[in-house]
This record gives sequence, structure tokens and C-alpha cells, in this order.
Amino acid sequence: MQLTLNSPMDMHLHLRDHEMLKTVAPLSAHPFAAAIIMPNLVPPVTTLQMVEEYKARILEATADETFEPLMTLFFKADYDYAFLERAREHISAIKLYPAGITTNSQDGVSSIDSEQLAPVLTAMSDLGIPLLVHGETDGFVMDREKEFVPVYETLATRFPELKIVMEHITTKESVEALKRYDNLYATITLHHLLITLDDVAGGLLNPHLFCKPIAKRPEDKAALLDVALSAHPKVMFGSDSAPHPQHAKESCGCAAGVFTAPIALQALAQLFEAHDKLDNLQPFISDNAQRIYGITPPEKEVILIKEPFTVPEKYGSVIPMFAGETLPWRIADVS
Ligand code: NCD
Ligand code: ZN
Repeated sequence: MQLTLNSPMDMHLHLRDHEMLKTVAPLSAHPFAAAIIMPNLVPPVTTLQMVEEYKARILEATADETFEPLMTLFFKADYDYAFLERAREHISAIKLYPAGITTNSQDGVSSIDSEQLAPVLTAMSDLGIPLLVHGETDGFVMDREKEFVPVYETLATRFPELKIVMEHITTKESVEALKRYDNLYATITLHHLLITLDDVAGGLLNPHLFCKPIAKRPEDKAALLDVALSAHPKVMFGSDSAPHPQHAKESCGCAAGVFTAPIALQALAQLFEAHDKLDNLQPFISDNAQRIYGITPPEKEVILIKEPFTVPEKYGSVIPMFAGETLPWRIADVS
């Protein structure tokens, strides 16, 4: 049994920098044709020079592959119109983080007041720059995303022409909001389609499945599966693959992030096949994102075959999801 995917894209990816970049970037650049690159470096990517220099380092690390890094800026409330007009040629989107909500987000926005942010958001809307949002409040960890829905609603209503992507959604409330507002879109990760809080903390604690937003309830997972498996036209695959070295995960003060880049397509094939929805993987993995972002990725054909793939225990210092386990699909060819 064989499956061909055309130009798969990962619409939410952390590639980090330095040695980690060199380790992980080729693992995405081999199977994926393009990816939205998150800007939460230390310090965050906030200038066009930083964007271009980071892009050059990514291209250098992925020189052996056909891969387009789609760059983003870290949202700042003081970006002015002239800057954003220049930025448009260099970036695909701007990522907004509430301050301190996740890894390297300390410089994010401390209060998401749509009037205070109006100058930047109006400019982004006029210039056609999508706003990507990490949608969590600082409330109780299981309720953070649900509590953020009114913020999405205010933004969607106040800026009706602005494309707003609800990043890595994990709740049924987000799925409902997505359907209610024309200008809301969403990315969904692999791990949130597969796990609930039980897999993280229901038995022995599994730090490799600890991430932000935290995995939720079975009914939330069911709502995500419903829109992903049907390739709802407003949802896109975004792995949120977020590598941390083993010592940062297997420690007191475990870093948030699941590393899925090298196993994502194989596990998605398994999931979509199990639900008899393999035909919907192509729109979920590329076509919807092409339409939503208005982009054409480089041509790349990825052939998966139904043969066992034993996931390596480690890639450099990073433990992937399903480390040491055998998945039923493997990547047979990329051209
Ligand atoms: C991400 C990271 O490590 O950069 N971590 C995570 O748990 N997803 C940041 C993020 O997307 O929240
Ligand atoms: Zn992320």
C-alpha cells in the first residue's frame, strides 16, 4: 500500500538556532516542502535583519533539501506601518504570544487589548499579513485556551479582514469558534490528535508529551479529530514540533514541547488510514494552507509505503515522540 503527498507543509514549526538548528532543520526539510518558522528565539526575531539572518542560517542547515522556510516576526505592539510595509516582502505572518505563556515568550504582549493593539493589527489587516496567535490566558492550565476564546472573538470582529490563525488548538471551544468567524483559521498538531492529559500525567509522568497548550480531554480530542480528519477547509497541519535537549525534558522544571518533525507524516498516515480518511490527508497537510496563506510551496513528492519504521531513540540530544516504537508507515521516497 502506498500514499503520495504533494508538497507537505508544516504551518507551525520551531527550528531553534545554532547546533540544535543543524540537528533538527534537515529532519523537517527532507519530508516537508515548506514550513512556517516560529520566531521565539532568544532574543526573539523582531527586526528584518534578524529575519533575513535567521532565514540564511536555516537555508544553510537545509542546503541538501528543497525546502522553503516561511519566516515570521515576533509580534510587538510598537511596529509601525512603514516597518510592516517593508516587512511584508520578508515574512509570511506575525506571531503573537501573551507574555510568559510558553517557551521564550517573555517579550510577548502583557495584555491583549484590541484598542491598544489596533494600529499594528489594522496595518497588518491592510497589508494582508496574517496574525498567528498562541491563544492562552494565564488562568488554570486546563482552562487557558477556553478562556482565550473571547479574545479571538473580539479580534475577529474588530478586524474582520485580518486573517487570524488560532495556533495549535486543543479544545472543542476553539473548534466551535473557528466555525463561527470567517476570518479565524487554525493549526492542529499531530500530538493533540493522538493524546489527552491522561497520556501526559494519567500514569507515570511522561515529560516528552508535556507541551503548551497541555493536552486536554477526550471530548476535546474528538472535536479536533473531527475537523482534521475531514480536512475542514479552515484547518491546517502545524506540528508545533518543539525540540528541547533530553536533559531539559527529563528534569525538574521540564521544558514544554513535543518533538514530532521526523515522525509526523508517518504517524498522520497511520491516523488517517485508521479512520479511513487517507484522501483527506493531502488537503490537511498542504492544500488548505496553500489557499489560506495564498502561497505555492516548492514542488516535492513524498511517497509513503505501509512498511514498518522503527523510530530512532534520539536525534542528536532530542527524544522524538514514539522513540524506539515501530510505526506501520515509512517514507519510501522524496523527490
Ligand atoms: C514551544 C517551544 O518550545 O518553543 N513549546 C510548546 O510546548 N509548544 C512554544 C509554543 O509553541 O508554545
Ligand atoms: Zn509552537
